[in-house]
Amino acid sequence: MPLHRVAVARGELAVRDHGDRAPLLLVHGFPLDGEIWRPQIEAFRGARRVLAPDLMGFGGSSAAGRASVEEHADDLATLLDRLVARRAVVVGLSMGGYVALAFWRRHPDRCAGLVLASTRAGPDSEAGRAGRYQMVIAVTQHGVAAVCDAMATRLVGPDAPPALQAHLRAVMSRQPRDGVIAALKAMAARASSAPQLPGITVPTLVITGAADALIDPAESHALAAAIPGARLVVVPGAGHLVNLEEPGAFNAAAGQFLEAVDHT
Ligand code: MLT
Repeated sequence: MPLHRVAVARGELAVRDHGDRAPLLLVHGFPLDGEIWRPQIEAFRGARRVLAPDLMGFGGSSAAGRASVEEHADDLATLLDRLVARRAVVVGLSMGGYVALAFWRRHPDRCAGLVLASTRAGPDSEAGRAGRYQMVIAVTQHGVAAVCDAMATRLVGPDAPPALQAHLRAVMSRQPRDGVIAALKAMAARASSAPQLPGITVPTLVITGAADALIDPAESHALAAAIPGARLVVVPGAGHLVNLEEPGAFNAAAGQFLEAVDHT
């Protein structure tokens, strides 16, 4: 029987944990928050525990300071400790995928499976890094509106309904400026997870929208090819936020994957 030790205010508690299914830990992309997982929360919460945190600096979480991608991953491990979940199926979209891969690098024993959506393993190119620092200047001068303008039309495919685009603008606009700046710097500084891909030993699903304008679907093909046994799902017509744009296809792929994880 697993016996966990959980830090509390005056020491540690030892806890017997009887749950037989790893919770889903949904990690959002930039510059968003856990609200983007609404269709997945609705779809899966009846069958298992679903955790959708706002990363530090975003949504309702505390102000960032300067959290690195690795520190975000460590926060998630602490979150699992506090919520008494030994392992989770970590689902990361885009920046959330960078965090999910860092989570695997730093806490592999806490990971029951990985879903890597619209993401990549490599670090930023020089040009990509320069673009981040230009965006830091733009956000410093003009606020979060600068990043909303730059990303609004690229987060979803060209056929996405206007209501979804308006929803995304609303979610982006409410993100704290300092958190957005910290995340831009963190993504620019992030380490490559590519060397660790062949050593991933948990079941892995890679998902991309075929019309992703932010992270080339070729990155997802490369990710799936580098991770032993990984399955690749390409959702036709969907853009970067494939989970919101085509929730039916995303949830079907994730549901099938979770059944396989539960039986490993
Ligand atoms: C995201 O959607 O999280 C970002 O586009 C990732 C990035 O800028 O690299």
